[in-house]
Amino acid sequence: MTTKKGLFLSVEGIDGSGKSTHLEFIKLYLEKHGYQVIITREPGGTKTGEEIRELLLHSEHLQDNTELFLYFASRQELISKVILPNLAKGICVIADRFIDSSIAYQGAGRKLGVAKIKQISAMLDPNIEPALTLLFDADLAVAMHRLKTERKLDRIEKEPIEFFNTVQQAYYALLNENSQRIKLISTNVSIAETEQNLLVYLNEFMKNA
Ligand code: TYD
Repeated sequence: MTTKKGLFLSVEGIDGSGKSTHLEFIKLYLEKHGYQVIITREPGGTKTGEEIRELLLHSEHLQDNTELFLYFASRQELISKVILPNLAKGICVIADRFIDSSIAYQGAGRKLGVAKIKQISAMLDPNIEPALTLLFDADLAVAMHRLKTERKLDRIEKEPIEFFNTVQQAYYALLNENSQRIKLISTNVSIAETEQNLLVYLNEFMKNA
């Protein structure tokens, strides 16, 4: 008997890109295709990870390197305790943020350098990569407006617009380098239109899954 391994997907995007709005849609899509699905979040998703999340999003100023290592510590816990065991059971994992976030936010946003993030990623045990990454994207002004009107801002969200501009540009660079894995989903359009665009990529992905 062969057992089917679960599919590993991630969703990415700058704060205010609208990614969270579409997570359930992606989950339902996979469930309709017969998969069990879980959604993880970063930082967080494990007991320790949630404690690290609290430090990352609600403490006072952190050194950039401290911030970087905390994101990776949370990620290692998530990989070992949630992502791998679920994939092994044939359950699909949708990761709400993964390594691309560290490349965009810490590598570019905090100017630690993309090469450094890739070196640290190589130390993850194991260093896994999603089969499909959906990169949600909105005009910077739209994303910033959503952020300010929708919720109380956390430590990262309080950064100035220039920071998010840099993060967004880094995501575009990742998209260019990984055009097979990463697909851009614009959320400048209506939710229904975004879902239609999502379906195109999900259908394409499922054909080869
Ligand atoms: P969260 O409230 O979950 O934001 P979102 O709903 O946009 O995912 O907070 C996560 C924040 O952490 C977000 O501002 C992005 C940031 N982040 C990094 O800077 N580096 C990382 O590696 C990860 C995973 C997240």
